[in-house]
Amino acid sequence: MDLVIMFVLALLTVVSGSPTVTIRPEAQPNATQQMLKKAVIFGQQQTVAVGTEAPGDVMATGELNPSHYPAQRAAKVVQHYLNTRYGSPYRVFGLHKVHSGHAEDVAESGRKYLLKISVQEFLRETVKNCTAEVFFPKGEKQASPEVRASCDELLQIDSKAQDEALYQRYKMNQSLVSAEYLPDSHGNMDPDMKPFWHLGIVAASFVMLSESNEKTLYNTAQVAQVTQLETENDQLKFNYDILLHDMVSQEIMHWKVLFTWSPSEGVKVLQKEQLPRCHCGRLPNKN
Ligand SMILES: *[C@@H]1O[C@H](CO)[C@@H](O)[C@H](O)[C@H]1NC(C)=O
Ligand SMILES: *[C@@H]1O[C@H](CO)[C@@H](O)[C@H](O)[C@H]1NC(C)=O
Ligand SMILES: *[C@@H]1O[C@H](CO)[C@@H](O)[C@H](O)[C@H]1NC(C)=O
Repeated sequence: MDLVIMFVLALLTVVSGSPTVTIRPEAQPNATQQMLKKAVIFGQQQTVAVGTEAPGDVMATGELNPSHYPAQRAAKVVQHYLNTRYGSPYRVFGLHKVHSGHAEDVAESGRKYLLKISVQEFLRETVKNCTAEVFFPKGEKQASPEVRASCDELLQIDSKAQDEALYQRYKMNQSLVSAEYLPDSHGNMDPDMKPFWHLGIVAASFVMLSESNEKTLYNTAQVAQVTQLETENDQLKFNYDILLHDMVSQEIMHWKVLFTWSPSEGVKVLQKEQLPRCHCGRLPNKN
């Protein structure tokens, strides 16, 4: 393994969306706080009215309280879906607010949520309304949720020119991009790396979409490593290490995602693999 991340996350406690962190001191004390700050930027700024409700409470049926977890969890899946379909280095979507939600059982096959939400495009801070349907299939083997969304106004946000410029710049470049910790432990990053951070969030959405169920609420915590590979068939190719945070279990998950991107084809995931959590407390191996 050429890369070991040692976020030894002991406990993350979230109270009304304000995370506090306990972490082993040798493991980048401030990075976790920073990445949680970023997780907040990317989609937890909506107020989840926790009350007595535990984040993992499930199976609310009928009209849902839009600010409670069941509606929020389903709405989060729409965010991931939109990023997988329409995300790019210059177009990244996040859940802004849930306006209304309704849940029902669908015979024996699963559960369906009907949602009215608003979604934000982060680079432009534009907020638009969407209606969406999220279906969580039931079954022994967990299947990915199915999403349908109607967000016409959001999709008018055009990032073609910027995406194309980035593509041209890195398509034939002699030196391949490589970066670590986007953002770094102080929340900073080289402006040149920002599009690669966004691309990581889009790639992470593929993982989060397929891993989501009614009991999860995933955010991208941090892009731990970016490695650009040789361009193939006009597609930029990357290997990313990404840390995801599930607000419900408070777990940080570490995924490796191999994907390609071009303005015309978008992001295509070739391989994704969950890496074991590391309890070793070592410093990152910089080979
Ligand atoms: C971590 O952040 C706190 C404040 O948030 C600061 O006081 C402390 O010096 C930082 N530690 C390191 C190692 O940067
Ligand atoms: C989005 O929908 C909400 C609730 O239906 C409404 O109050 C709000 O004005 C709408 N916003 C936009 C930008 O259309
Ligand atoms: C090539 O990539 C490096 C970073 O990997 C970047 O700094 C440089 O500007 C790129 N070259 C050109 C011609 O854009």
